[in-house]
Formats: sequence, structure tokens, C-alpha cells
Amino acid sequence: MKRIFIYLIAALMFAGCGESENKYVNYMLPIAKDYEFTAGEFETDNVFIAIEAPGVDCGIIKEQLAELFPQDGGEKAVTLQIKDKVEGIESPEGYRLEITPEQLSIEATDGAGLFYAVQSLIQLKGDGNSLPCCTITDEPEFGYRGMMLDVSRHFFGKEFVKKQIDAMAHFKMNRLHLHLTDAAGWRIEIKKYPRLTQFAAWRNPALWKEWWFGDRKYVEEGSEGAYGGYFTQEDIRELVAYAAERYITIIPEIEMPAHSEEVLTAYPELSCTHEPYKQADFCVGNEATFEFLQNVLDEVIELFPSEYIHIGGDEAGKNSWPHCPLCQKRMKEENLKGVDELQSYLIQRIEKYLNSKGKQIIGWDEILDGGLAPNATVMSWRGTEGGITAAESGHKAIMTPGQFCYLDSYQDAPPTEPMAFGPYMPLEKVYSYNPTDGLGEQQAAMIYGIQGNLWVEYVPTGDMVEYMLYPRILAIAEIGWSNPAQRCYNEFKERAIVAVNGLRAKGYNAFDLANEHGQRSEAATTLNHIAVGKKVSYADGAEYNEKYNAGGDSALTDGVRGGWTYTDSKWQGFIRRGGFDVTIDLESEREIKRISADFMQMPMPEVWLPGEVTISVSNDDVTFTQIAKIVNDTPTDVPMVIRNFGWEGSCTARYIRYHAAKGAKGGWLFTDEIVVE
Ligand code: ACM
Repeated sequence: MKRIFIYLIAALMFAGCGESENKYVNYMLPIAKDYEFTAGEFETDNVFIAIEAPGVDCGIIKEQLAELFPQDGGEKAVTLQIKDKVEGIESPEGYRLEITPEQLSIEATDGAGLFYAVQSLIQLKGDGNSLPCCTITDEPEFGYRGMMLDVSRHFFGKEFVKKQIDAMAHFKMNRLHLHLTDAAGWRIEIKKYPRLTQFAAWRNPALWKEWWFGDRKYVEEGSEGAYGGYFTQEDIRELVAYAAERYITIIPEIEMPAHSEEVLTAYPELSCTHEPYKQADFCVGNEATFEFLQNVLDEVIELFPSEYIHIGGDEAGKNSWPHCPLCQKRMKEENLKGVDELQSYLIQRIEKYLNSKGKQIIGWDEILDGGLAPNATVMSWRGTEGGITAAESGHKAIMTPGQFCYLDSYQDAPPTEPMAFGPYMPLEKVYSYNPTDGLGEQQAAMIYGIQGNLWVEYVPTGDMVEYMLYPRILAIAEIGWSNPAQRCYNEFKERAIVAVNGLRAKGYNAFDLANEHGQRSEAATTLNHIAVGKKVSYADGAEYNEKYNAGGDSALTDGVRGGWTYTDSKWQGFIRRGGFDVTIDLESEREIKRISADFMQMPMPEVWLPGEVTISVSNDDVTFTQIAKIVNDTPTDVPMVIRNFGWEGSCTARYIRYHAAKGAKGGWLFTDEIVVE
């Protein structure tokens, strides 16, 4: 059967990789590894259900079967069976499903496999009263298929998290990483340290943006206007159990040594200077830091059965450590060369502690700096390099590179979307990622899986969380589960639209994928104009930044326009004081009617429109006549905009000088083409 399937896939790819051969294929997300639909259907009434699964708690499975087959007690058999071995299946999450008009049978080696088979049934049944006859042999590509939800920047409560767990389980995801602690609020009750939740979990105002760019103060729980919240230990137990019934492990993240402003204000004695509101990093020289972290972790371990505890490790400023006598003493005593090794000392010591309690650590890829803890798993977010380095040194890696997996970025044309943190990253971009791309067999074996991350600085409500997650987290789910050889975006998009409709019908505020605007239209074609191919000279102090060279000196007259993000290698970036100042040589005097360039504004990464543009022309490259001066009048609080700065008229010239000066905010200028017509 495998071969039949491979032929089918090959045929699909040949046919332009777009048309599904069977309507039921559109219902499967993630797509099953090996499937064959045959003629006929199995009516879902008049069945009897037999489950042979000793030792497996089938509570949720039974509930879901009762919804699928409302009249248990009939004649046609629905059997679910745990076996020692199921042909074609190696993973305990795998299953084999066979449906004929007379009977339906599921085999797996573990409860997880039975559960995932039932999720497939739910998808295949849709709103109908029958299931297609088929044989499906299915198991995941990766053991770790994760979603991270930041509940610190804005807080989302227990019921909301359960709702997202339901969706994750439906799409066969199995890890929920909760980012429980950060500057914006501590979100888990720790009995030994009540100030973490009486004080460090509350703020005023509610919107992270106003708080972060305002006074960044905390307030007492219950005080007027206090915004925030936290999970009680009872809430955590309930969530952990709810997730476990759905074969999802919750992994808690407790940030250290950085992103800890809230802790270091509630307990300032744990920072280097002991001043509240001044420090983000724990003092690594102080034994009290370890006492605190171990006490917190003791309670965390009791609550979360997860093998893994995420210990953060990202973005430490390490600014106070060089001036702190205790940190300096620690470095001397432990023979640590530099602050990276001091961070590594903390991570390694915490790993040792957690290992002694039977737990493993995951850390963001900065834990590689200064020496990786011996048993650590690395979560690769600053691109893929951290994960690859970890895999090469025999460590497990979870891939969540920002350019593919950060779901706080724009999923559609930014001018049509609510303010987002990151650049344009539509579903297609997420789906294009392959976690083992370019890796040899040995390194690929160390890639534990993939995770989609939702940071919520600009995502203040549950509705917005769902909008940003769905459908892009479905691409993560499919990359985590399905065979990479089956990857076909057009076909996936059809299935994702079906899934989005299903989610919306169940009350999830999913993005309306069917009406996506898509890429900036200018980026789809190459433009012909009289400056194409002509030499561009950059004034001293106004050279482009090498990282955003867009192809180099010819980029601004190559006819190629940029898309919705300055990171697409088509926008040229300028950070130098001189802004953007170029001269184009048209090689002969030409009649000119229009000169213009587009610039981008994107506040989060400090990409701004020019403050002022001047356009001048010359016939000798010495004496220039200014023909236009355009002062920017777009406010800086416009979230994302592309604006054209140009001149229209009539003149004759060989040289054109286009100068865009930076505005008051400085930052970056980005432009994609100087169009001369
Ligand atoms: C991160 O995005 N700072 C892990």
C-alpha cells in the first residue's frame, strides 16, 4: 500500500500539487502518513463499541466515541484494541484504522495511538453521519509537537487554556509549553514565596504596551484597577490532568537568570544591587538565588509530571554581573572566564539539581553560550543554528526558529491586520519549514521536534490569541506529524480552510484563511523603468547595511520590488547616520516624468519612514537642481505602512540624486527600488 500512496503523491505533485483525489483527504489535518480510501461508507448509527485496552484510561476516548456513534448497542462493530505489535507502526502514538461498510477497527500499541485514531475519525466524519471506507496506517514524524503560550505579558486563565488544549489534541499536538514567568507578571502560585502572586502578578494598566512603555510598576493583588492573575496550584493540577487525558504534556517555563524583573522587585535581595525595579537578572554570585530557584522548582516539580522543565536562559543582559562583588567572587572561585560562563554555571547547577530530582532541562539556545549543560535539550529560536549545534554535539533540539515559528508576526498583508510584533509570516511561510533540512542522519535523529510560539506583547485578548494561532499552528502540527515527502502547500491550504471552518464553528476566532489578501502585489512582478540596470552610487556615510543588502549595489535598480517584510532580501536597509543618499547614472540625458521610491514603517523593529526626502537632477554629476522636497507627515504610531515618496513633472537629466534623511526616531530606513519613468 505504501507504494500506491507514493505513486499517488507523485501524481499529485505532477498535477501541480493542488487537487485532492478524494474529498475526505481535505478533512485530514495533519495528513496521515499512509492512507487509501476505497468505495463505500460506514454509517455511524447502529453500532456497538468494544474496547480492549487493559490499563489504559479511555475516559475521553469513550466520550468522543459516544459523540461519533450516538447509538451504541447496535450491530456493526467498532473495535479499539491495544496490541503488542501493530504492523507498520513503530511509535506508541501510531495507529492503524480500517473501515469497511460493516465494521471499523482501530489498533495501536498504546492509548495515545487509540486517541489519535479517534481524532482522525472525528475529522473524517465532519458534520456527516458516515465515515469513508479506508485503511490508514499513521504515526508521527516527530515525538515533540509543541505549542508555546506566553501567559505573562497578558494572562489567560484556566478555561481558555483548556479550550486551546482541545484544539491541540484534535490536531495531534502533544506538548504545551507555558511561559509562566516574565517581567510582565509571575503566573504560578508558589506557596513559599507569596509575594510572587500577591504583587508580582499584577500591574496597572492592563495592556502590556502601555505598561512596558510606561512606568513598569507592579501593584498589590486586589488593588484598584489591578490587572493580571495567576494559576493557583489547584488550577495547575486541573490543567495538567486535563491535558494528560488528551495526551498532552504541559511543560512549565520558569525563567532564569533573566526576564526576571518581577521576581527581583518582589524579592530584591536576589539581584546584584538589591534595588527593586532596577534589575532583570538574578545575582549568580549569591547563594540565596539558588535557594530561591530550587525552592520554586521543588514546588513546580510536584505540580508537573513532565520529564522536562524549561529554565528559560534567553536574553540575559548580564550587565550587573561584572560590577557585583559576589558574582566576581563566584567567577574567581569557579575559574569562570566571562559572564557567559557565569550564566552557564547557573544553568549547569540548576540542571544538576533537576536531574537529581529525575527531571531534564530545556533551555532557549543562549544556554549554548559559555558551555552547554551536559544533558540539556536546546530550544532553537534565534534561527536554526543553535538547534543544529546542539544536535551536532549529541544534544536533543526542539526547533522553533523565529523566522518560521513565531506566531506573533503578521499573518496577512500588514496594513489589513492588527498590530503585530514580527514581520509578515503567512501560513505558507510557516508550512515551508523543515526541521531537519540540511542535516545528516545522525544530527536529524537528535531533532526532537518542532514548536510554534505565541508571545503576547501585542496580543491582549483570548480572541486575539486564537486569531494569531489558527491556522498557523496547524502548519506546525502537520510538520510535526506528517511525512515531509507529502508536503504540498496548495493542498494543505485547502485542508487548513476546512479546519478553520471547523474551528470557527466551534467558537474559535480563527483567521479567515479563505479570504487571505496575501503577498504585496508589487512583489509578484518585475518592473521595467528607465533606471533598470543603471549604476547606483552611495554617498559616504549612507551605505546600506550588509545584512540587508538585497543583492548589493544593483538592488535599487533591478526592477525587483519587496514584499510585506523587510526581511525578504528585497528591501535594502540603511542604519547609518547619512540615511539613504544615492545617485543614479542614466548613462545619457533622458526625459523624465516621475521619480519615486517606497519606504516601509514598522515600529517594533524601529523601521521608520524618512523624515524628509529631496530629489535633485543633474546633467554633469556636479551641479544638481532640487526638483522635490517631501516632508513625511505619517505619524509614528501607524503600525505598519509602506509609503511612496516621489516627484511627478517633466525634466531632462542624466543623473538623479535621491536623498532620504532619517526622521526624529532614527532607526532604520528600508526601500526596495528607485523607479524612474
Ligand atoms: C525568546 O524569544 N526570547 C525566546
